[in-house]
Amino acid sequence: MDAPLLKTPLPGPKAKAIIDRDREVVSTSYTRGYPFVMARGEGAVVEDVDGNRFLDCAAGIAVNSTGHSHPQVVAAIVEQAQKFLHMSGTDFYYEPQVRLGEVFNEIAPFDGQKRSFFSNSGTEANEAAIKLARYSTKRHGIIAFLGSFHGRTLGSLSMTASRAIQRKGFGPPLAGTYHAPYPNCYRCPSGRGPAACAADCLNFIQDQLLVHLISPDEVAAVMVEPIQGEGGYIVPPPQFHQRLRELTRQHGILLMCDEVQSGMGRTGRMFAIEHFGVHPDVVTVAKGVASGMPLGVTTARAEVMSWPPGAHASTFGGNPVSCAAAMTTIDLLRTSLIRNAAEVGDYLQDGLRALMDKHPLIGDVRGRGLMIGIELVRNRKTKERATTERDRVVDACFARGLLILGAGRNALRLSPPLVLTKAQADIALKILDEALSDVTKG
Ligand SMILES: Cc1ncc(COP(=O)(O)O)c(C=O)c1O
Repeated sequence: MDAPLLKTPLPGPKAKAIIDRDREVVSTSYTRGYPFVMARGEGAVVEDVDGNRFLDCAAGIAVNSTGHSHPQVVAAIVEQAQKFLHMSGTDFYYEPQVRLGEVFNEIAPFDGQKRSFFSNSGTEANEAAIKLARYSTKRHGIIAFLGSFHGRTLGSLSMTASRAIQRKGFGPPLAGTYHAPYPNCYRCPSGRGPAACAADCLNFIQDQLLVHLISPDEVAAVMVEPIQGEGGYIVPPPQFHQRLRELTRQHGILLMCDEVQSGMGRTGRMFAIEHFGVHPDVVTVAKGVASGMPLGVTTARAEVMSWPPGAHASTFGGNPVSCAAAMTTIDLLRTSLIRNAAEVGDYLQDGLRALMDKHPLIGDVRGRGLMIGIELVRNRKTKERATTERDRVVDACFARGLLILGAGRNALRLSPPLVLTKAQADIALKILDEALSDVTKG
């Protein structure tokens, strides 16, 4: 399928009818930015119910890693579905779950023997990590970072510090959860610039949190996104993760990397933490791991994941169909798509940096591979956040046949399927260029 191809005004009549019905019966808590109603997809192209085609640089929030309905993934799903759909891997055995555990034992970004716990989503993968950290260390404290997103169940939500609306009305978070600033070099939290940035954020943990609020021997884990996702696709300086590893090791604190958004090839490496040369103790993934089938994986060093039968489980977790989809996804990532994410990602980022000459609205372009953030500002010197402009650029892209999402308060994010071609990257650049011009003109 080629895109864009727009046949009706947006939303078209069928889309509009479905959105009207949705409004009556679906939870009001969902945040739909624009009226896209999916009918089908292929690769990086999606078609709505009125036959309009869009280039998809959102991938269902960074999920459709191998593209929409990749034929090999679909074949693996069908083959497994014809054998059996479910048998609960917590009470019975089946090979697809064991095989996937073996694959994670090979690919997880740290040495030694590993074990994996299987669930259905990112928040569950992180919930398992929190419980595992508390159980295995016999400590209760968890340190996370401002701007982070780890999910919406109450444990994960307690670590999430992305937008206040996500916490508002849900009462006190899990006791023992603390937050430190995340090193955002474009907006250095200490105002001292990139050289001091990582040091200051870590000094806050060392000299403030661990001195005034919680004793290090009561901290079970630090949970960190190697590249912050919902917070605005923020890439920390390399020394940040390295020093965080030293700090956690010094105090016997587990280092847990939330790779739900950044993992599974998106950044041009299997795991984003590999860019920083650091080995965590626990890694969590979901989103892209099974190309769109629900799956969460929490992988830990084997000696950390040695809790007794009954300590933690999930009826649906590690569903055999999701495991089959994940194994084919990982094969495709390893054989070609990680490389493609790195190559096309560099190409797209170069193109975006070139657009900065023409569009003062672009304050910063950052990312790795196909995890790309574009921060919009009203003034490059003051860095005043271009919040409404960001939303208008997202809408203008939709109107021209490109699906993208926002991240943070004023950034655009590009998280396309990892099958994106350079020709499609050119289309995305052209539409972004036009959308930025539309919004600048008012
Ligand atoms: C880094 C990160 N962790 C966890 C989650 C939660 O994943 P889920 O929505 O599958 O629960 C997300 C979702 O955006 C995420 O980006």
